[in-house]
Amino acid sequence: MPAEPHGTVTAVLPPQTFHVPPTVVEVLGEEERHALREEIKALLVRENAVLVAHYYTDPELQALADETGGHVSDSLDMARFGHEHPARTLVVAGVRFMGETAKILNPEKRVLMPDLKAECSLDLGCPADAFAAFCDQHPDRTVVVYANTSAAVKARADWMVTSGSALEVVRHLKAEGRKILWAPDKYLGHYIQEQTGADMLLWNAACIVHEEFKGQELAELRAQHPDAKVLVHPESPPSVISQADFVGSTSGIIKAVETLPARQFIIATDKGIFYKIRQAAPDKVLIEAPTAGHSATCRSCAHCPWMAMNGLRKLAAALRDGSNEILVDAKIAQRAAVPIKRLLDFSADQHTVIYGNNDA
Ligand code: 13P
Ligand code: SF4
Repeated sequence: MPAEPHGTVTAVLPPQTFHVPPTVVEVLGEEERHALREEIKALLVRENAVLVAHYYTDPELQALADETGGHVSDSLDMARFGHEHPARTLVVAGVRFMGETAKILNPEKRVLMPDLKAECSLDLGCPADAFAAFCDQHPDRTVVVYANTSAAVKARADWMVTSGSALEVVRHLKAEGRKILWAPDKYLGHYIQEQTGADMLLWNAACIVHEEFKGQELAELRAQHPDAKVLVHPESPPSVISQADFVGSTSGIIKAVETLPARQFIIATDKGIFYKIRQAAPDKVLIEAPTAGHSATCRSCAHCPWMAMNGLRKLAAALRDGSNEILVDAKIAQRAAVPIKRLLDFSADQHTVIYGNNDA
């Protein structure tokens, strides 16, 4: 890990423990698949609903979102789309914090999810009580939290950021002379600190998917493909980020494949994104960054176990019965809306979506 730049203090907190489910992808026969797709299309119309899906979800869901006037995107754009779309019901295929963000921004709308147990290790690794105690110890710091947190954690924050906006927000706060308390992703926090030189105190959670990408094996793979550009999501460890030609959000990675002149790309993020990249750039050669090899545990093998909980069967059931509705306590939602709206206003003011840092 590169040396910590001056001004960083890393919080030492007890390790957070939680259960990581196995990654189970829905398998359907052709007949059932067709019937479910048709049923969901009809239910979306009946329920005045729109489907918003993350790039890491099953390609079936991404295709359905596209076909039905919904949206497939990164976490920032999912929030923005849901906020601006007139549908009465938002169906969020992704993980719980995405559904909660949609509900917080749209308290008058119904928000459904295929599976309410679709969590995120960053959210689980940052319990609201422990986080509040941490904030209480550092009242002089501006609290910046990643979107991948619960509503209660956001309710304690001054700013929410996503991977596509964190750099610009922290640059802005540094220019205002602010010291930052950052949570929960230690790798993203470290990367942002390194890029901006801001004074950041870091919470110590990680994404169990990106944490598994391996620096040494990536170096070996690069040696086999010397012309390939390396694209990395900033939730990855420093040993992986330091080898990147481009570091950025999911949308940023797709754009980089489309626009960079290279033909081959090594990609360090959840492999669900390959579906959209192949659509956007069918002639490019995509290579998965290694998660195996030296010190491998392969808890996820580059596919988020919680994202994999989203499937056609559960989506149809949620729409059919109105089950799996996301509910957020009104007081918490009101408070959590402040840092979320601050980010949406900030990125609208910049007249641009900030995707990532292109060193290529
Ligand atoms: P993006 O904001 O880049 O879509 O990332 C969300 C996420 O959960 C990545 O693991
Ligand atoms: Fe959370 Fe990582 Fe899954 Fe994204 S990929 S939802 S950060 S566990």
